[in-house]
Amino acid sequence: MKVIITRKIPESGIAYLKKFGFSVEVRKSDVPPTQEELIALSQKADAMITLLTDPLNETFFKNCGKKLQIVANYAVGFDNISAIHAQERKIAATNTPVMEMSQAVAEHAWGLILSIARRIVESDTFTRGLQYKTWGPELLLGMQLKGKTLCIVGSGRIGSEVARIGAHGFGMKIVYVNPHKNDELEKTVHAKRMTLERALKIADVVSIHTPLTPETRHLISKKEFALMKKTAVLINTARGPIVDEKALLQALSKKQIGGAALDVFECEPALDCDVKDHLELRKMPNVILTPHTASATIEAREAMSLCAAKNVVAVLKGKKPLNSIY
Ligand code: GLV
Ligand code: GLV
Repeated sequence: MKVIITRKIPESGIAYLKKFGFSVEVRKSDVPPTQEELIALSQKADAMITLLTDPLNETFFKNCGKKLQIVANYAVGFDNISAIHAQERKIAATNTPVMEMSQAVAEHAWGLILSIARRIVESDTFTRGLQYKTWGPELLLGMQLKGKTLCIVGSGRIGSEVARIGAHGFGMKIVYVNPHKNDELEKTVHAKRMTLERALKIADVVSIHTPLTPETRHLISKKEFALMKKTAVLINTARGPIVDEKALLQALSKKQIGGAALDVFECEPALDCDVKDHLELRKMPNVILTPHTASATIEAREAMSLCAAKNVVAVLKGKKPLNSIY
């Protein structure tokens, strides 16, 4: 049976698939496949390992190969997959919610929190630019984190890990916004659940960890920025469209908030939903931008590869997928 992988992924999963005797074909390109190419590839596949850049939408599932039994997404997010249409065609669809991945994203979120709060990127630019002429008591002052309030929007695996690091590592107070009560988080870090509105009013750091769904699209927009503290910073390592970027730009320009650190964008990778807006964002010293690399650790990417492969093997052997998204 044939497994097609739409772009090169770390070796662990490929070796696992081969161990079970499957033939593995890795598409040779660094750019995502087009819709047509994805459909064409699927014609000869029993299973596909796909990436978050691959459109697995209604058109795909209506036209994909007859033998296809599973699309294993190499990502924890699966907003690129139309789960309803996968289910309709009885094609399994899975993600990779491995512990290493949650940890990697949480660590990156913390890298961004520290960088924005302590102006590390700005300080680096300043120093490299030979602007450091004399030590000064008020040079590049940032925000102390100890005792401040961290708001986690979405308290799943990743959000909870960010909260734990904040509480145990930095002595922050934790508030969270989530559709359900999270007893574990309340017990381990004394987190308080509240409405988004209330949380935004009191938070010093707001970190987004919710999936992108119709309900969370533009969850943080003009009204929400108006509620935030002038000194508060926004961190997004989840999905770009959860934050209304135009509203973010306005909030930053009007100094309604203190800064933002973004790993994801409304339009990736071009950052060109509106080129003018992005040029503005890129000019701001209190904005940090990383290229959707929050899960980019060797450990996380190997574990994700193995996880996707295990889902493929389970389904091709007639068992239930391990990480079904529906
Ligand atoms: C990365 O963004 C992922 O969803 O795995
Ligand atoms: C700073 O470098 C200090 O010694 O206080």
